[in-house]
Amino acid sequence: MTLMKDKKILLGVSGGIGAFKACELLRLFVKAGCTVRVIMTKSAAEFVTPLSFQSLGAESVSVDMFGEKRDTLEHVSWADWGDILVIAPATANIIGKMAGGIADDALSTQFLAFYGPVLAAPAMNVKMFNNPTVQRNIRYLKSIGVNFAGPETGHLASLITAAGRMTEPPGIFAAARQRLIGKNTLAGKKVVVTAGPTKEPLDPVRYLSNHSSGKMGYALADAAAGFGAEVTLISGPTDLTPPPSVTFAPVQSAVDMQKALKRYCSKSDILFMAAAVADYRPANYHKQKIKRSDESMKLELKQNPDLLKSLGDSRPKIVVGFALETENLESRAVEKLRDKKMDIIAANDPTKEGVGFGSDFNQVTLLFKGGKRLKLEKMDKFDLAVRIIDETSILLENHGSKRKK
Ligand SMILES: Cc1cc2nc3c(=O)[nH]c(=O)nc-3n(C[C@H](O)[C@H](O)[C@H](O)COP(=O)(O)O)c2cc1C
Repeated sequence: MTLMKDKKILLGVSGGIGAFKACELLRLFVKAGCTVRVIMTKSAAEFVTPLSFQSLGAESVSVDMFGEKRDTLEHVSWADWGDILVIAPATANIIGKMAGGIADDALSTQFLAFYGPVLAAPAMNVKMFNNPTVQRNIRYLKSIGVNFAGPETGHLASLITAAGRMTEPPGIFAAARQRLIGKNTLAGKKVVVTAGPTKEPLDPVRYLSNHSSGKMGYALADAAAGFGAEVTLISGPTDLTPPPSVTFAPVQSAVDMQKALKRYCSKSDILFMAAAVADYRPANYHKQKIKRSDESMKLELKQNPDLLKSLGDSRPKIVVGFALETENLESRAVEKLRDKKMDIIAANDPTKEGVGFGSDFNQVTLLFKGGKRLKLEKMDKFDLAVRIIDETSILLENHGSKRKK
């Protein structure tokens, strides 16, 4: 069972030029197994038609509060149905109405009656966005728990580059998924995640690396933010977009990662070591591109530092690692768990079909310091991240209570 399957999404669409992107957002929710009901403002219907959303898989679309079929006699019955209300795009107008308690159309009325998580993705002209009234409204809505995704700085419809551009649909989907975890067990906790491969430079154009896509680490950072943690993601080079509400610290080599870890780990509670850090780097960096010459060439390698051991006093309270082995998986994972004094190690075999490198799925066995062993089924990496964080939260809680005794 995945987190998003059968979730009920209320997708509010207001009248901005970004309204067409709400169609893509709807598709992402539908693809993830959610049921979506769309609530459009009349202005939104000037930009996209209700038929577009119906054709793309919305269960129903509401534009006019009066004269529509309802689940019950209640005009706000949809508010009781939804697990989350996502408003994308959110115009300056709807934000003002939400902050002011005005309920003069279907969307603003459902907002007032909806007591679940709300996520708004503002999109507007930069002058509108910077207007003190809009800023005050956003501040107020944040203070009562409304979540915001964006806006981003980028090309606006007016072709200038400024703040006000709606976050792209995958970013809004990710922010909604974080809210749908529905757990806050890491609120006030600091979490550091390492992800991706490292690139060990040989000369200005060549490097040694590995096939790590970074997906597992990004999923952990994403889910940890959903659990309420303050997350720093230290990532080697990947093609992925950093998850919402995460501090992003990009690095290249193992030595860079070591420096970043030292910087971010002090006073942190949990460290997830999901990066595939190169064990060795070229012993000599050539300032100029190495020329093709002899039939064969010898490449001397030097061992990279052990990132965890070099943390010293900055080592977080709980450390979770990954062991990726192609043979003797579990015995090697246990060896690594003990050697590095980790609390949990997730053992995974990248050669298994449909999991591991680059895949959206993974299948791991969690091995705990105390000897507990938990074999998990194959699942989506985000769902696996949620599962691992559930286990880690328990360890962190026990760690705190042991100290108090
Ligand atoms: C072409 C066009 C584009 C617009 N784009 C935006 C926009 O991106 N953001 C915004 O806040 N308002 C935008 N507006 C203004 C809103 O449509 C207007 O404030 C409207 O009253 C919003 O109604 P609603 O919030 O009920 O959807 C635009 C208007 C036009 C004519």
